[in-house]
Amino acid sequence: MNITLIATAKFGLETVVKQEVQALGFEEIVVSDGRIEFTATLADIPKANLWLRTADRVLLKIAEFPAHTFDDLFEQTKALPWEDWITQNGKFTVNAKTHKSALKSGRSCQSIVKKAVVERLKTAYQIDWFPETGVAFTIQLALVRNTALLTLDTSGVGLHKRGYREEAGKAPLKETFAAGLVQLSYWQPDRLLLDPMCGSGTILIEAAMLGRNIAPGLHRSFAAEGWPIVPAEAWVLARQEAQNAILPSGNLQLQGSDSDPTAIEIARSNATKAGVADDIQFQVKDVRKLWIDRKFGIVITNPPYGIRLAEYRELNSIYLALNKMFRKKDGWSVYVLTADQKFPSYFKRAKPNRVRKLYNGTIQTNYYQYYGRKPPNR
Ligand SMILES: C[S@@+](CC[C@H](N)C(=O)[O-])C[C@H]1O[C@@H](n2cnc3c(N)ncnc32)[C@H](O)[C@@H]1O
Repeated sequence: MNITLIATAKFGLETVVKQEVQALGFEEIVVSDGRIEFTATLADIPKANLWLRTADRVLLKIAEFPAHTFDDLFEQTKALPWEDWITQNGKFTVNAKTHKSALKSGRSCQSIVKKAVVERLKTAYQIDWFPETGVAFTIQLALVRNTALLTLDTSGVGLHKRGYREEAGKAPLKETFAAGLVQLSYWQPDRLLLDPMCGSGTILIEAAMLGRNIAPGLHRSFAAEGWPIVPAEAWVLARQEAQNAILPSGNLQLQGSDSDPTAIEIARSNATKAGVADDIQFQVKDVRKLWIDRKFGIVITNPPYGIRLAEYRELNSIYLALNKMFRKKDGWSVYVLTADQKFPSYFKRAKPNRVRKLYNGTIQTNYYQYYGRKPPNR
């Protein structure tokens, strides 16, 4: 049976998620704001969850219909075959968001949907009372411009939770977001990658996992793992395949530094938990004292934003150090994520080749991209 899955994505990362979906072999891909829809089978749910690096969640699309009133929402929700998905003893919650719609209260929509699903299941299973002792299901309602999208969340905890980061350090990037920064750059696994303000090491750990083809979800569980409709062997098979796909370490050139010794300690511990400790060299070093002798390489970094972490004067001296370090190194591509729009006036090698607007959580940031010369013989 064909189903439609939706990979949800942060603003600005839709293209990357689409490329990942394509690379996994899925077809009939439709991209809209924050959503990448594609056709799959139930047995593909494990693969999508295990492998998507930049998506926030994988949702199973149940239906999409216009809903201007509570009656519309109730009747159309009740008409759906929920019994095909939710078991008789299933425990289910509803999350609802509304945006630019006649029905404005998320909470009211939530109870309408819950009521409609209960009504449907009561008739389908011919019972009056639900024990809710079984597997958990989360129904999501997104009501946008009076169109209701009903989905079941197959991921559970957000996909950024890979399981390797118990300690986050200061102002860490979400793992999915860091994976997006790497994939938006021209870094390839045979190239040197440096993060001179690496904090808890998220960018480098994500690059290492990408470079060694380690499925980001290999060490965690997912909501749909308990669902009877997804064949249990599909999970076993997808995990086995992911395990067999891992490339050996020893071929990557990943370097991270930070002035804070605690951050480096955390980065090392996270890299160990992610199974990539041997792929990254970490050191405690102030970026203003860093010396680079290699002609070619790639920097991806997010300096402190100033508002939260460093005094502004210190921040300016960091920008000046980056400028000094890379002004004459045109073999280096430099990617800097910052909310500070003054950054380009300090980094004078050239104008950025591209500036992407991205949201790091709720903070609007720019991803400044300065392209360097390609190394010879590539
Ligand atoms: C926004 S955080 C980076 C977070 C990181 N991307 C992560 O995911 O954990 C900025 C980092 O810059 C470091 N930092 C601040 N001043 C520095 C300096 N002068 N030299 C090197 N690192 C510095 C801080 O210790 C902090 O870890």
